Amino acid sequence: MAGYVTDWRDLYRGRARCVLRPASVAEFADVMAYCHVHGIAVVPQGGNTGLAGAAVPDGSGQQVVVSTTRLRQIRSVDAVDMSIVAEAGITIAELQSAAGDAGALFPLSFAAEGSATLGGAVATNAGGTAAVRYGSARDLLLGVEVVLADGRVWNGLRTLHKDNAGYALRHLFAGSEGTLGIVTAAAMRLVPRPAGRAVAFTALADEAAVGAFWALLRARCAGAIRAAEYISGHGLALVMHEMGLRAPVARAAHHVLVELNAASADGLCDLLEGVLAEALEQGIITDAAVAQNEDQCAAFWRLREDQTEAQKRAGVNYKHDIAVPISRVGELLARCRAALAQRCPDLLVLPFGHLGDGNIHMNVVRPAALGAAPHPEEGEVAGVVHDIVAALGGTFSAEHGIGRTKTDLLETLRPAVELDLMRRIKAALDPAGLMNPGKVLRQE
Ligand code: FAD
Ligand code: MLT
Ligand code: ZN
Repeated sequence: MAGYVTDWRDLYRGRARCVLRPASVAEFADVMAYCHVHGIAVVPQGGNTGLAGAAVPDGSGQQVVVSTTRLRQIRSVDAVDMSIVAEAGITIAELQSAAGDAGALFPLSFAAEGSATLGGAVATNAGGTAAVRYGSARDLLLGVEVVLADGRVWNGLRTLHKDNAGYALRHLFAGSEGTLGIVTAAAMRLVPRPAGRAVAFTALADEAAVGAFWALLRARCAGAIRAAEYISGHGLALVMHEMGLRAPVARAAHHVLVELNAASADGLCDLLEGVLAEALEQGIITDAAVAQNEDQCAAFWRLREDQTEAQKRAGVNYKHDIAVPISRVGELLARCRAALAQRCPDLLVLPFGHLGDGNIHMNVVRPAALGAAPHPEEGEVAGVVHDIVAALGGTFSAEHGIGRTKTDLLETLRPAVELDLMRRIKAALDPAGLMNPGKVLRQE
């Protein structure tokens, strides 16, 4: 059972009474009805790539892991209605490929897409690298099929692009992290597949330039931006070292990867080269490389997408999945760098992430080489980061969810009335408290 009870970061090792892998909605309904009658707590699990510790059981050995990985049908793809209906255990990469075969694009994309599932993406409201253009999972969610805590099945698999009939119940399950029911299938929005793609990797000298570059990009290329991803100079050095990669530009303190997409390739490279020339002229960027073919596009993207894996290899990871207003990203980078250098000089500060959403992963690594040497605890480091985030009007949870790592933060930082509403929703859908207990909301 090891792979089902240990999270991706190897931070949480739980124990389970058993792992169940139902293969149909009817089997899921039977499992949930049985657990409901017998008072057994259930931990839903998809690809187990979540970064908030929410997909693995606690240490009691009393909880049951219910895996969706055998629920794998693509029920329909419709390039006229621009929708895809698929079961929870299909991976994000498989969905992208099915949409592509139909001539459309399923735009959700992130480094774990080869293992992360549709059910997991909905349940965490995953964001990723194209959220700046297409939104997070919730924005793509047209309908859901859910097995409720008592085993009843709600089929809300509508594929309408507008549906205002009553409360948008489907949205309750987006970001619910397995605490309200098991998503067995979802209807997702597709978008037209762009034919043109242009990717550049850039170097920037200081934090102020990061904000200025984003503002210029948006002013010149607004509708074409598919991604604008930030990577720190130290993060670039680490990924090159750990993964054996090469940088396409002169090394700097800050880097941004830009991808433009459009219906046609005509003029797209010119648009990108034009804005890069302007940024160079204004001193916003100091160097840039434009990918000349698909292999180079992939090589540029690896420098960004392998950040998480490289950091995992380098030591113990303290993750801060934060977002601030985009106008304040430069200030966030500068203030965190200074404060963390002062409070924990031995730790590596390796921010990267989704610049266009203001969602920077302000990750900190305690190098394996430090061994047992004294170091600040995770909570102390998090306190430094979250105080700055709060001062900048940001959030401590932008896309990975609350899971078990941030239940205390949620209790502390969200207003009492908001928490009360969340508890009432939880009690209405899961009165016995058997759905992923202790995740999102602290167990009373
Ligand atoms: P799991 O990890 O199995 O589960 C996550 C949560 O969803 C748990 O609470 C679980 O109980 C619940 N759950 C799973 N399936 C269901 C279901 N069918 N019904 C109800 N609840 C369910 N996330 C981002 O948002 N953006 C990123 O850019 C990103 N990049 C990543 C890069 C790497 C290298 C890694 C390892 C992770 C990354 N993640 C990212 C986090 C993670 O991949 C996403 O949260 C993903 O959506 C989780 O999917 P999963 O199938 O692995 O879910
Ligand atoms: C990513 O954007 O690659 C993941 O969300 C990041 C992480 O490792 O924190
Ligand atoms: Zn991310």
